[in-house]
Amino acid sequence: MRNPGLFCNPTAAGSRRRLAMGVALALLACLQVALPGGLLAGEEALASEGSHVVERNYVTAPPAPRAQSPQEAMAKSEGCMTCHAKTESTSMHGSEGVNLGCTDCHGGDHGVRLPEGTAKDSPAYVAARDRAHVLPRYPDDWKYPSSRNPEVSYTLLNRESPEFVRFNNPSDYRIV
Ligand code: HEC
Ligand code: HEC
Repeated sequence: MRNPGLFCNPTAAGSRRRLAMGVALALLACLQVALPGGLLAGEEALASEGSHVVERNYVTAPPAPRAQSPQEAMAKSEGCMTCHAKTESTSMHGSEGVNLGCTDCHGGDHGVRLPEGTAKDSPAYVAARDRAHVLPRYPDDWKYPSSRNPEVSYTLLNRESPEFVRFNNPSDYRIV
């Protein structure tokens, strides 16, 4: 291995009869070696090697109903809103006449409530959050629970469950 350039030299690739083939193969080999951890290989590595995987049993939420009462919709938001009330509007779009609760779109467990007076940095808060949420298989790669998602997340998304993909972004093409 003192001269790695040898392997990238097309003329060293074999007999004359197979020279054309050899050149092609050698060029291919050179290209692969030359691309520093090509784009695809790089993304693959991000999601598979060294990533911490968590096994999960996912519960699939039913699809959003065509029609329901405001009360029925609210029941699917109340648990979530014990933590989220200040940031999100109930329907996410704020459009009247559309009665959808949080879990109609996101999934998750709307039965979980934050016990009153629970501090945001307490273990009880984290436990409630994680029971209500659909959790990723690769929490570290998502920097879970931050809602600021990693910029290159396609490979990561493909490795996650449809349940998590839906939770993370209900409008993702994989689940609509
Ligand atoms: C009509 C479907 C729908 C409903 C109902 C809905 N959401 Fe969403 N939500 C979405 C979609 C779609 C996105 C992704 C928006 C984006 O990333 O552009 C989203 C994004 C979010 C985010 C991430 C925001 C961010 O900054 O990235 C949070 C948190 C969230 N929703 C919480 C809730 C909560 C809590 C409720 C109930 C009060 C709720 N959603 C109801 C569709 C919905
Ligand atoms: C015990 C508190 C708690 C409860 C209950 C809770 N959440 Fe959250 N949720 C959080 C926190 C904290 C974050 C992180 C916020 C951030 O970093 O912007 C979060 C983030 C999210 C995000 C963004 C995640 C992402 O990867 O983009 C969504 C979507 C969301 N919550 C939906 C819900 C829904 C739907 C429910 C009800 C089924 C719910 N949450 C219940 C505390 C809670």
